[in-house]
Amino acid sequence: MTPSSDYTFGDSDLAARRLELVGTTFEDTTRDFLAASAPAEPALAVDLGSGPGHTTVLLRDTLRPALTLAVDFSPAYVAASAERAGGDGVEVIEADVLHLPQRVGDADVIFVRLLLTHLRDPLGAVALWQERLAPGGVLLLEEVESIETEERPLSRYLDLQEEMLHANDNTLEIGPELDAGLHDNPGLRSSEVATFSPPAAVAARMFGMNFATWRERPEMTGAHEPEELDAIAAGLGRVATAPESAAPITWRMRQIVLGGS
Ligand SMILES: C[S@@+](CC[C@H](N)C(=O)[O-])C[C@H]1O[C@@H](n2cnc3c(N)ncnc32)[C@H](O)[C@@H]1O
Repeated sequence: MTPSSDYTFGDSDLAARRLELVGTTFEDTTRDFLAASAPAEPALAVDLGSGPGHTTVLLRDTLRPALTLAVDFSPAYVAASAERAGGDGVEVIEADVLHLPQRVGDADVIFVRLLLTHLRDPLGAVALWQERLAPGGVLLLEEVESIETEERPLSRYLDLQEEMLHANDNTLEIGPELDAGLHDNPGLRSSEVATFSPPAAVAARMFGMNFATWRERPEMTGAHEPEELDAIAAGLGRVATAPESAAPITWRMRQIVLGGS
């Protein structure tokens, strides 16, 4: 399988701060999913595409594994994860999730959040990861089903994000594709949707940070005038700082539990 070395959301300090905000915003939903779907105190839990380590800490603290492995291909995020969580029963590995080292094997729990959106062959990746499970182990996927809002700067941003990801053969709302594609997988245990609605101001801050990361990519600047991109950034800034009259925003997260195939 071709490695996807072109992760479009970057690993700058700004991108890491965005993932910190994602971490606090998604924390309760993810904790509930982990607690309900995985065995407590497993021997080995793995966080694939662990970013700067917020999911790794949540996985460790929720399940209390004997060993937690965090895997990411970004050297900056590996260093951040090691600083945040390393040593306390956590090891951080720099690797491509499509070419995992042998020691990422016989896992009781493999957790994947907000990663399949960025892979060109998400179902192929899922099949590879199922092979890394111990007998009775579970693969937990948590990805975007949909993000809904009537607030114009937020919805306009989401349109451009989808456009940018699409230009890179990635899919923002990957949940329906996963649900349909895994329907007949022999390992499928459950496929549900969890919903949450953070404050519009928080969403606008997250979106603003991400927009700054990718708005200058050629697939954006080639298709949109600078004035249009500036107007979206300004709109996000307005919602972030004066959200009183902003329309709500709702994430629907697809949560899938699989055993070995
Ligand atoms: C959107 S972030 C999600 C981070 C974390 N799972 C969370 O939910 O906060 C996606 C992460 O996957 C990593 N990533 C993307 N493609 C990867 C690949 N092929 N191999 C390893 N890591 C990858 C990126 O570096 C990034 O840290």
